[in-house]
Amino acid sequence: MNNPVDIRPRERENDEEILSSSPPDKPKLMEGGNYIKEGRDSARSTCLIFSPNEEDEVGALGKYLQIFSEHKVNLLYIESRSSLRKVNGYEFVVECAPGGNLGAAIEAVKEQCSYFSIISRNHKNNMDSVPWFPRRIRDLDKFANQILTYGAELDSDHPGFTDPVYRARRKYFADLAYNYKHGEPIPQVEYTEEEIATWGVVFNKLTELYPKYACREHNHVFPLLIENCGYRADNIPQLEDISRFLKDCTGFSLRPVAGLLSSRDFLAGLAFRVFHSTQYIRHSSKPLYTPEPDVCHEVLGHVPMLADPAFAQFSQVIGLASLGAPDEYIEKLATCFWFTVEFGLCRQHGELKAYGAGLLSSFGELEYALSGEPELRAFEPAKTALQKYPITEYQPVYFVAEDFEDGKEKMLKFAQTIPKKFGVRYDPYTQSINIIDSKYQIEELIINVNQEIEILMDAFKKLKN
Ligand SMILES: [Fe+2]
Repeated sequence: MNNPVDIRPRERENDEEILSSSPPDKPKLMEGGNYIKEGRDSARSTCLIFSPNEEDEVGALGKYLQIFSEHKVNLLYIESRSSLRKVNGYEFVVECAPGGNLGAAIEAVKEQCSYFSIISRNHKNNMDSVPWFPRRIRDLDKFANQILTYGAELDSDHPGFTDPVYRARRKYFADLAYNYKHGEPIPQVEYTEEEIATWGVVFNKLTELYPKYACREHNHVFPLLIENCGYRADNIPQLEDISRFLKDCTGFSLRPVAGLLSSRDFLAGLAFRVFHSTQYIRHSSKPLYTPEPDVCHEVLGHVPMLADPAFAQFSQVIGLASLGAPDEYIEKLATCFWFTVEFGLCRQHGELKAYGAGLLSSFGELEYALSGEPELRAFEPAKTALQKYPITEYQPVYFVAEDFEDGKEKMLKFAQTIPKKFGVRYDPYTQSINIIDSKYQIEELIINVNQEIEILMDAFKKLKN
């Protein structure tokens, strides 16, 4: 496996300086109530990946940098690394700020290299480009704050809308998440007595229902969460403790989020086995209702499932399929996510059980979904992806998966129908995404897979003896 060679390891810190010196540090309220952070981020930048021609060496980078300079294009990030596409080759990753004559610079670079790829948030305006996606786990910092709503902003029909104490509390949680960076421990929160009481009502109601309605995997993990992560009626578990637990089980980790992310960004996190989680709790006036995900939904609904290896892999398959996918497929994948990870049902020993977090965190809908009243259909990604759904009412139709292995196989097949010019693979050693678009890479991967098979065959022989 080739390791990336970063010729400017301090670039990241320099970026931080650019960020703190010019734009405001807090999100800015945009028209329509959306909070968008301004400044140096991937929202407006364009990322280019290219390999020099055969005759050029790694020193050729200077030649390309000259092109950007001539066209007055500012660069935010430069990296030179071993090529994943050919033996002893190099490739460059350059992130360009908007401005200057970027189009002409791109054309000039394209003419002088053997491999060229554009990754851009503005992919709609550039039909040649691939929609931007994070390539390293720390890239998740780039979009964590590109949120559609900031946690402190509530709709007028929200139970906490007229409660200034609740609103201040929501802002506190939003700010915690807003300032979070990859690799840091998730801040511990001291929940108030009122918040703990709200949690207690939800916890007691739902845990009564789980033995009858929750799937085997959820019921298997729940006692471990009680033992290891402080799941109790009088204690709201801390995200950091849960995240560490999940790491040990499936390699998943939690990342606090300040508000709603776009589907593209949320799904991209799953490709890295990172789950974006809220940390605040619903309003105390309606403990059994929340119009948006809260800590009860995340830690009671999602977390137990993310600790299951087959479900974790199923979730990652959806995430990987989303990387670089066209917008219409992001919508389809988000719909599949909705009808599986959020509202999925499965059949176990002939009985219907719930595995979707939206059900496992909703007292009323959990019973309703399994009451025989709503329509049930088999999970078939190509068809499920087209189903419309309400977000504020019970679902009129639920999709049933045989098991997560089967669901994963079907999702993998569906992912192959997404038009992309490359494959993607997560490398857990470097916590990064490999873009697979050359025979050389595939040959290397096949060698690795063969080595794994040899290890397995050897172990199998030992078992037989
Ligand atoms: Fe959710």
